[in-house]
Amino acid sequence: MTTKVYQLPVDKTGWQTADKTGTAKFTWDYDNGRDKLINLYDKGKRKQWDAKERIDWSHDPNPENPLDMPDELVPIFGSTMWDKLTAEERGNVRRNMVAWQFSQFLHGEQGALICTAKIVQTVPDIDSKYYAATQVMDEARHVETYSRYLDKIEIAYPINDNLQSLLDDVLSDSRWDMTYLGMQVLIEGLALAAFGLIRNTAGDPLGKAVNAYVMQDEARHVMFGRLALRDYYPQLTQAERDDREEFCADACYRMRDRFLANELWERLGYDTEACIKYVDESESQKVFRSLLFTRIVPTLKDVGLWGPKMRQTFADMGVIGYESTDLDEVMAEDESVAEQIDIDRRHIDEAIAAGMAVEA
Ligand SMILES: [Fe+2]
Ligand SMILES: [Fe+2]
Repeated sequence: MTTKVYQLPVDKTGWQTADKTGTAKFTWDYDNGRDKLINLYDKGKRKQWDAKERIDWSHDPNPENPLDMPDELVPIFGSTMWDKLTAEERGNVRRNMVAWQFSQFLHGEQGALICTAKIVQTVPDIDSKYYAATQVMDEARHVETYSRYLDKIEIAYPINDNLQSLLDDVLSDSRWDMTYLGMQVLIEGLALAAFGLIRNTAGDPLGKAVNAYVMQDEARHVMFGRLALRDYYPQLTQAERDDREEFCADACYRMRDRFLANELWERLGYDTEACIKYVDESESQKVFRSLLFTRIVPTLKDVGLWGPKMRQTFADMGVIGYESTDLDEVMAEDESVAEQIDIDRRHIDEAIAAGMAVEA
């Protein structure tokens, strides 16, 4: 409850500036916070972590298989191209694949950093500005984390064309909800699923920890998008909602196609067309690409973008089955997995310290 009283009349509830870089909205109502958003903001403040301390960077991943993942997860596994490669060449494919994938995570995180800074400016309410500011800090820490990880791999890739064009659409749209929809729901939702696949299958502790910790924060980010859009979309006209669905359908196809990784095959000097054809048609890769939508499908349903266009797109992509995923349950699991990694690391540190004490 507010105890401060304005001493002069406040005839407007806010102030808006407009210039070439976009619109900045000020509010003079500092007390009107929605409980759920304020709780999320408080959690965002409490759960900040420092990558330098929380992650054991002394570990060096195996350069020939940095994530220690089974070869079945290499997109061209099982092709004649893969069968002809020497052990050394296969190591080079695995390393470049991880570098390509984590480079896209890195650039995507910078996109999230810039989008959330934009949300701080453009969103009208103080509670959303508070929360988005914690996310700006989260995303800066994620950029730092993935950048450090790529220093370990010693190679990096530029941003993928599909990801860049999607970021361009999101950032150049003046409607405030499009930043949330494009970044918080689509780009982050897809990234979250990709991080989860690595967290759950990587044998290497560094790649596993990096993704598990980032996911712990991302669960809050997706929740922010859900809370904001769930309130807003029912107020729009059907035509306005249809327009958003059109954008989502197009974005989902583009994001799925970015995982064909054409620039990776090009860099490795392979027949790019043949690789893309193989990856596009491979049954295991179809399953992999469908798993990328486990978070997006239920979120779009939850925020009320679930008209015929959306359902038809997801049916066509073979991912409609994820509509019944319990988002709260998977996000609670994201938190507990990260916390378990902390506990395991503490146990290892304690065991090492006890061993040293015995030796001394
Ligand atoms: Fe992030
Ligand atoms: Fe995020």
